[in-house]
Amino acid sequence: MTPLHLVVLAAGKGTRMKSGLPKVLHPAAGLPLIEHVLRIADQVSPSSVVIVVGHGADAVRSALQFRPDLRFALQEPQLGTGHALLQAELALTGAAGTVVLLSGDVPLLRPATLRRLVDCHVATGAAATVLTAILDDPSGYGRIERQDGRIAAIVEHRDASPDQRAIREINSGIYAFDIAPLFDALRRIGSANAQGEYYLPDLVRIYRDRGLPVETVTLDDPVEILGVNSRKELAQVAQALRAARNDELMASGVTLVDPATAYIGPDVTIGPDTVVHPNVYLEGRTRIGARCEIQCGVRIVDSTVADDVLVNSYSVITDSSIERGANIGPFAHVRPQSHIEEDAHVGAFVELKKTRMGRGSKAGHLAYLGDATIGANVNVGAGAITVNYDGRTKSRTTIEDDAFIGSDSQLIAPVTIGKGAYVAAGSSITENVPPGALAIGRGRQANKEGWVEKNRK
Ligand code: UD1
Ligand code: CA
Repeated sequence: MTPLHLVVLAAGKGTRMKSGLPKVLHPAAGLPLIEHVLRIADQVSPSSVVIVVGHGADAVRSALQFRPDLRFALQEPQLGTGHALLQAELALTGAAGTVVLLSGDVPLLRPATLRRLVDCHVATGAAATVLTAILDDPSGYGRIERQDGRIAAIVEHRDASPDQRAIREINSGIYAFDIAPLFDALRRIGSANAQGEYYLPDLVRIYRDRGLPVETVTLDDPVEILGVNSRKELAQVAQALRAARNDELMASGVTLVDPATAYIGPDVTIGPDTVVHPNVYLEGRTRIGARCEIQCGVRIVDSTVADDVLVNSYSVITDSSIERGANIGPFAHVRPQSHIEEDAHVGAFVELKKTRMGRGSKAGHLAYLGDATIGANVNVGAGAITVNYDGRTKSRTTIEDDAFIGSDSQLIAPVTIGKGAYVAAGSSITENVPPGALAIGRGRQANKEGWVEKNRK
């Protein structure tokens, strides 16, 4: 097997995005465009990967810090795709074999297609192999000119004559090259064209003049080479990426009630017989178990949800874990570092933060439980609040097993409610409550008989 080196072009400005963010860092379906491209590259196990950066180079480099094996080549200024590839020469010094060129803004390519391109390139012994596609509307793309059936040149849309513009076979911008003649030939590319740029596709003409063989591989499904040049194309590509992931999930036994509005990130896993309703967002490293029901409008980020959990509509869960059989929402807000144990219930308009809800405990309505450790089988009444912040420091509340927290009470932390204790409704609790005790912390009620009648005059 000949060594395979990948070069990814990511130096262009992306003018039509009208953005302060480099184009390749725009997220689509939960990952930056360039990360999608690198994951395609991973599938063909390359010996090396070089990213050509330029516009927004520092931002692109730091976004890819977690991939230590990448090498970067700086293209400054950006003088065209031919000039861009030339910048990878230093990083590939002494390398032999095949160079595959990808664009950082073309994320739908299938790994199998990439394989096919490389296999064909190696089998034919070509100096260059161009991945092409046949489009109903080829406008904007470079056109493939053929003579006697063989590729003779690529003509950019802006430089093409009306006859050339009628050609429907286009250049995908993805190529395989034999590295030996490549960099010397790149230096021969000129910039006498409509854009005054060094066009990589001009290599085809140069190779032909030198008698070096150039081959083509034509795509079956042109959607694979859809590139992102505008926000509209970003949305199209994101939709295609999501659809592909959703198809996999459905094939694995997950019901998506409306796949078009299931926004499920590429690294999210979901167990069989889980039902995901419309307009649900599952993001980051989220893992969902089997037989769960995720109702409409839910957003879950970087969280673990075990089997048989119901997450009712419009709940938001971040960086937390939820155990089997729990029942969340509707309209619950589970903030980071919360842990909801088996069969617990966190109901409507209940907010948790850094809080553990023990097995079978319930907070059915309108509560704020922050920095709290709550044992098993605790009942938290409507409107109960852990007062965890005094303006300077955060303090913890502990509620032991089987305790009962009456409605509209405030537990002023740090404070502990002992096992099985009762807090009377409407209490402000400032001192620890011993196990089994009843704590009442509120003004005593006084009824003034006949007061209304007396005050009427
Ligand atoms: C390019 C091809 C065209 C092909 C099309 C497919 C050229 C001249 N034309 O056109 O034949 O049909 O792709 O999508 O190659 N880039 C750099 N440095 C530069 C210029 C571009 O890194 O100086 C990068 C861009 O960031 C992008 C890629 O190269 O990732 C393609 O550049 P772009 O300007 O989008 O080329 P197209 O006009 O689309
Ligand atoms: Ca492009």
